[in-house]
Amino acid sequence: MARVRSNQHVLHSVAKKFGAFDLQQQSGGFIGRVSDLREKSTQVGTFAVVNLSNVMDRMAVWSSALPDIKVAYPVKVNYDPALLELIASAGGSFDVASAKEIDLAIQAGGDTERMIFSHTAKLASHMQKAAAAGVRLSIIDSVDEMQKHAKHWPNAEILLRLTVARDDWHLGQKFGASLDEGPELFREARELGLTIRGVHFHVGSLASSASPYLAALEDARVAMDMGSTAGHDMAIVNMGGGFQYPSDSASPLAKHDFLAAAAQIKGAMAKFGDHVEFMAEPGTFMAMASTTIAVDVVSVRNNGAIWVHESTYGSLNALSWPGYKDIVGNSISVLPMGQSEKHYKPAAGSTPVNGITCDWADVINLPVGLQASSLSASDILLFENQGAYSLSCACDFNGYELSSMPVNYIYDSSEMKDGFQVRYKIDAVPDKGWGIVLEQEVKKGEPVWAFKGEGKTHAFHDEATVRAKLQVLAKNPRSHESMRFFLNHIFGWDGRIIELIGDCRFMNHSSTPVIGTTDGETWVALRDLSRGEEIVDNYETYSNPDWYVDLCKEYDVEWASRVAELYN
Ligand SMILES: Cc1ncc(COP(=O)(O)O)c(C=O)c1O
Repeated sequence: MARVRSNQHVLHSVAKKFGAFDLQQQSGGFIGRVSDLREKSTQVGTFAVVNLSNVMDRMAVWSSALPDIKVAYPVKVNYDPALLELIASAGGSFDVASAKEIDLAIQAGGDTERMIFSHTAKLASHMQKAAAAGVRLSIIDSVDEMQKHAKHWPNAEILLRLTVARDDWHLGQKFGASLDEGPELFREARELGLTIRGVHFHVGSLASSASPYLAALEDARVAMDMGSTAGHDMAIVNMGGGFQYPSDSASPLAKHDFLAAAAQIKGAMAKFGDHVEFMAEPGTFMAMASTTIAVDVVSVRNNGAIWVHESTYGSLNALSWPGYKDIVGNSISVLPMGQSEKHYKPAAGSTPVNGITCDWADVINLPVGLQASSLSASDILLFENQGAYSLSCACDFNGYELSSMPVNYIYDSSEMKDGFQVRYKIDAVPDKGWGIVLEQEVKKGEPVWAFKGEGKTHAFHDEATVRAKLQVLAKNPRSHESMRFFLNHIFGWDGRIIELIGDCRFMNHSSTPVIGTTDGETWVALRDLSRGEEIVDNYETYSNPDWYVDLCKEYDVEWASRVAELYN
């Protein structure tokens, strides 16, 4: 079965404990579930839907791409109790920033021995709490904080937070010490009898490549040597957060980017000695795709003003941040009341909508073009990919209980992720970039992949709908790449164009395929296959309409147009 199998029992037990609804039981899949919650239950106003399977998937992706970097998930990003419990049960630990977060992490089953108190300006009472609870690791960046530790938490094992060379978020104005400050800090720690065990850095959220990590790791190596020379037993490097891996709807390229960055980061880690342990604090990576916020439209006025049951004081906080706006904007859709089949993505543009509080400044600038004329009160605006810095930042200004909106858990009990029925990984393959590589042997005739129908795919019936999708992609910050990626990963089938969703997009095709189908449902091994072999399908599976071939030419997607022409 697929790579998430080892975590299936964890997923099932947490899903059971939190009463999660199995999407396999839902007609209409995810959208059907949201509609049912809105229309068949008593759920009114804004509510959240948390998909536990997404969190489990992220943990699995992390441990397959960066197995030697231990996860300390930052509680602040999203402290939903089921999400925290999943992470703890799947082997993750926690980055905490306050006494309250220590409690939340302990309640979720977190082990204080592996927790890290990352705030660099701690309250004395919070340090005492950490010491009493048995938290082992602390991060600091100043002499002042060392003196506080000597008094309130003398046995903490300390990581020194460094500023980063590539600091797009200007975090260095508030956090971190420069390499120049290193000698003084290491000396002061010795004088105060404190133990420094390593270094920490955080490159800022939504890093778009490996390069800020590579630069920071170079500095980390210098600081590790400096600390050893000063007599400290330097053995831990903590790479903070910033990793991104949005869901398919947000960015078709992100998985590829993360895997490429992970490979480079692994290369840089090899330059440290064998005794060095690595950890990281991937927050957005783990939480972003978990949560969808369903926002009720409260009223649509004759003058075009749209009011919603959300607020700038609520869960849409991160929408105004660079980067998040693009990702979340790409995953906004409209679900008309009572008509889930008419669920649609708005066109590109921007629309100010009025937040529910009476603050004049509570206006949310949505990065999509909403048409007031096609909206009605009680329609729903769906914000997918809203699991990072959303509910954890919301407050109840004006008495609207936005910080405690109803949360509905869902999960997907299907073990066949993306149709794969074998263990596999996405890996670099010769000449083709990325591919699906077997992690087990498969005997001739055994099933390898199943075409799961439109539940796991999107179907386009004509050129106009494909062009409409291209227009949506055109607002992506990397629009040209996104459009080419899309055209490269759809294929003609049974009179339709099918867009594959998920990891099966990484499956390459070959004139010497190793899998094939006779029924169009299940693809089986054409010969005995060994572990490490790439799974490749046959080009002749395609039957592309002429307009797709022309579209590929128009968008300069040479490879796809050649393949399409060849096998028509
Ligand atoms: C020290 C530290 N670690 C990790 C994170 C999580 O970052 P991200 O959500 O981008 O992974 C943050 C976010 O602010 C942070 O300050």
